[in-house]
Amino acid sequence: MKIKNIIIKLCLILVFTFSSTSIVYSKDVIKIGTLLPYSGVYTVLGEEITNAMILAFDEVNNSINGHIIELIKGDTEVKPNIALQKARKLISSDKVDILVGPVSSSVALAIRDIVVQSKTPLIIPNAGANVLTGKKCSKFITRISFSNYQINAPMGTWLAEHGIKSAFLLAPDYAAGKEMMAAFKITFEEAGGKILGEEYTPFRKTKDFGPYLARVKSSGADAVYVFYAGGEAINFIKQAYSFGLGEVMKLTGAGWTTSPLFIPAQKEAAIGFIGSLNYVPSINTDANKNFIKAYKSKFGRAPSEFAVQGYDSGKVIIEAIRSLSGSIKDKDKLAEAIRTISITGPRGPLTIDPKTNNVIQNIYIFEVVNGEQGPELKVLDTIEAVKAPGEGCNL
Ligand code: PHB
Repeated sequence: MKIKNIIIKLCLILVFTFSSTSIVYSKDVIKIGTLLPYSGVYTVLGEEITNAMILAFDEVNNSINGHIIELIKGDTEVKPNIALQKARKLISSDKVDILVGPVSSSVALAIRDIVVQSKTPLIIPNAGANVLTGKKCSKFITRISFSNYQINAPMGTWLAEHGIKSAFLLAPDYAAGKEMMAAFKITFEEAGGKILGEEYTPFRKTKDFGPYLARVKSSGADAVYVFYAGGEAINFIKQAYSFGLGEVMKLTGAGWTTSPLFIPAQKEAAIGFIGSLNYVPSINTDANKNFIKAYKSKFGRAPSEFAVQGYDSGKVIIEAIRSLSGSIKDKDKLAEAIRTISITGPRGPLTIDPKTNNVIQNIYIFEVVNGEQGPELKVLDTIEAVKAPGEGCNL
């Protein structure tokens, strides 16, 4: 009997020791779920964002106020329905504290409600869908990348003021492509420009841009205004070059089309493109130079604007948790800390518009020129402190 009691006691001690260790363990971990593309047309964008976020976490030895950072990756595959399943898993099974993602606007629209209903703070490191910091804004959603309007609206005015009188619009047929073209169209027409035609190419499926290029060319427009990213940007720019489009009209558009991430594959075909972005590698600050150096030494290549967005997401997470002295369980407080944090990143000081939760930032208008080390972005103009209009959002 005595021996039986001793055994029971020992078992109880073991159970308690084990379970209390696991409680301490889970309390000491901060779970960050990513909803990013690790396969499909935007794979390199997802990898770039993840790499740079890991770099930011490395800089604090993967620990914030005693919490070990655990990264749980969710591959959206750039498909809204898949992304929604992954979001459910990260929120309900993995019980992540913070989500970072996505890249695509349509994916962002698909996961918006589950994020808000579950009160999981979401940091958007890319997707530009306007309504997420507009009609469908939420204090649980903070966007440190851009809104589709914010990047493209300045280009309409700028091109019209720089001799472009007519344009043909070309973009992938999904939320981001449509919103970017619409933003450009508003300001271009306001400034007296004329749109001579527009085409939307099947998203994730178009490999041959030939038929579109022929229609763009025969429109007689002064410029083609495009948005492409990932594999589509590489294919489009190379095919437009072989087709000789740049000989009859100016190639212009949302700057990702000739991102420093794609230029190594596009090579001389990218030369002459005029675009707009929220970051250019030539920003002359210590924060930017140090970031470029650290990224190059860890990943063996120069970072792009996608990397900057990933790095800034990591930094915002670190500073938000520090501002709460490490207490992360109150989701309202965590979301509030994220949206009110300010950091200085490679882009410069990062300010979140309290009315919309969208980043306020400079927009750089650039031309791709032949530099000492190949094609590079030469800044033609800087439009300072651009905000997203955020219509319908009252935070
Ligand atoms: C988007 O879908 O919002 C998107 C994707 C890739 C970009 C920019 C925006 O480069």
